Amino acid sequence: MTGLDALLHEERAFPPAADVAARAHVDAARLEALVAEAEADPEAFWAARAREELVWDREPTEVLDDADAPFYRWFSDGALNASVQCLDRHLPERADQVAIAWEAEDGAVRRLTYGDLHEQVCRFAGVLRGRGVARGDRVVLYLPMVPEVVVAMLACARLGAPHSVVFAGFSAQSLADRIQDTGARLVVTADGGYRNGKVVPLKQSVDEALASCPDVADVVVLRRTGEDVPMAEGRDAWWHDLESDPGLAPVTDAESMGAEDPLFVLYTSGSTGKPKGIVHGTAGYMLWARLSTRWVFDLQDDDVYWCTADVGWVTGHTYLTYGPLANGATVVMYEGGPTYPQPDRFWDVVEKHKVTVLYTAPTAIRALMRAGDDWPARHDLSSLRILGTVGEPINPEAWMWYHRVIGGGRCPIVDTWWQTETGGILLSPLPGATTLRPGSCGPALPGLAPAVVDEQGRPVQGDEGGYLVFTRPWPSMLRGVWGDTERYRQTYWGLFDGRFYVAGDTARRDAAGDHWILGRFDDVLNVSGHRIGTMEVESALVSHPAVAEAAVVGAPHEVKGEAIHAFVVLRGEATEADLRAHVAKEIGKTARPEAIVFAEALPKTRSGKIMRRILRAVARGEEITQDTSTLEDPAVVEALRAAPVA
Ligand code: PRX
Repeated sequence: MTGLDALLHEERAFPPAADVAARAHVDAARLEALVAEAEADPEAFWAARAREELVWDREPTEVLDDADAPFYRWFSDGALNASVQCLDRHLPERADQVAIAWEAEDGAVRRLTYGDLHEQVCRFAGVLRGRGVARGDRVVLYLPMVPEVVVAMLACARLGAPHSVVFAGFSAQSLADRIQDTGARLVVTADGGYRNGKVVPLKQSVDEALASCPDVADVVVLRRTGEDVPMAEGRDAWWHDLESDPGLAPVTDAESMGAEDPLFVLYTSGSTGKPKGIVHGTAGYMLWARLSTRWVFDLQDDDVYWCTADVGWVTGHTYLTYGPLANGATVVMYEGGPTYPQPDRFWDVVEKHKVTVLYTAPTAIRALMRAGDDWPARHDLSSLRILGTVGEPINPEAWMWYHRVIGGGRCPIVDTWWQTETGGILLSPLPGATTLRPGSCGPALPGLAPAVVDEQGRPVQGDEGGYLVFTRPWPSMLRGVWGDTERYRQTYWGLFDGRFYVAGDTARRDAAGDHWILGRFDDVLNVSGHRIGTMEVESALVSHPAVAEAAVVGAPHEVKGEAIHAFVVLRGEATEADLRAHVAKEIGKTARPEAIVFAEALPKTRSGKIMRRILRAVARGEEITQDTSTLEDPAVVEALRAAPVA
């Protein structure tokens, strides 16, 4: 197992400060008690939490149903609605409390109270119902970072219609793939969105995508930029027209959904060319969204909580929308680019909104660190009390900078490990309970059962590296892959005959019980905290008429964590710019290769398998130590080394 060497020798440790622990929901003693309770009887533990945390229409009598493992079911005879957990349960007490403080890229601020949010969600649910959306129907949301995306998500939840949010940075082609795969009939979008001072033409992408999605009969368009966009007669309607219709019937009574009914489908990259639709259920997901948010961020009533993730990713689902709102928190939402108009935008937002809890990604931290300490120094960051990070391993240097320069040395950092599939955070320090070690994502949260195992599925010795697995199911786990039951079984339970959930990461666990993530063991890259399958980029490249063959590998990158390097064999004329534009069109800009090497041939074994390890070494500028004698044509390697990197 190769890992980040620096992480293996990290000895700095930060025990919880007494004042943080004194105030925290969970201090060390409470954490110990919760873990003991969960280990003594996991089902009883989860049953108690489900009763305490959720507002049920019908309380469940079932806890875990494993009759059809690995298709686990939780609380399956219970009934509830996810939007009620986020809205109705807080009313009337929090009617005038700000639910969302939204900062536009141009600095304008809009505040929605819990009362406002409830009203808008009920109205928009009425709009959707008026367009024929009923429980079980899928709705695709392709929206910028504006409060309406949260309104739309909760409105879908209110009707029991699973939403599938497509990141606004994805291309028309990616959008079309997702619309087709979910079988959605209705799409909600905007005329456009703002990003780094430019307009992202969302409606245009929807129009392009719908050329290949004949089943979409309705498009609801939010006006954001005010730019002229064509509206298809009979198909497209403006959000504001529909919502202000005097005949509109707001949906005040939320649909009572089964605990296991799907709440959303969110696509993520895997090791094949096609992204998979990860399905999450209602009760288990909402339980953990609420509880993990409160525990990990130690959310208190006077907190101003800011998660910088886009709603197009799972972090934007669980920790921008469902988790904080289920706790009745005040959530800051920011529309635009982190360095727009200058590299102090984050610090400006923190100061302006008096943010107390900040949750962001290592890639953003590294980029802001590189911009220099002068930028944060211009701002009063004294409101901050807890910092979080997610999405990829954070290098100790960036961790220390975040701690010292942003947190003023006083804010605990929670390095949270989880995945689209896990629904919520599974490994993380707790601010008032855990000793922090830069680069480690801490211990398991109560109720979770991680293990680090070898190829045979045996626990590794000491703190050796191995496969990160979970030995018990948990309530917020994925409920499957949309439309592909076998893929769920294969991908997540296949490696050890159904005994463990396999995360796809390698990790080590130290003597203190803290986890250190070493990386992925499948063909998935993590570029700026975004998962991108190498096969996905390869299939995009070979779909260009001038490309005969392509292979994609990852190489370390100072800011992005990992960067995409592509090796391409041409059969026609194409430049690097052509291919980068083509990948942006096929997938989205995030998937554009950092570097492209044009080669005469790719290194292959005699059986025709591409030797990626060699390509990885070339991409990293490393010596090729492995045996190249099994190559069909060893001269290829020399040619690759000499090839100019575009
Ligand atoms: O490799 C792990 C990495 O991100 C993967 C999950 O990606 P995604 O489903 O897009 O979700 C990202 C946000 C939850 C994991 O398999 N990862 C996530 N968090 C961490 C991490 N790697 C190291 N440390 C983390 N804190």
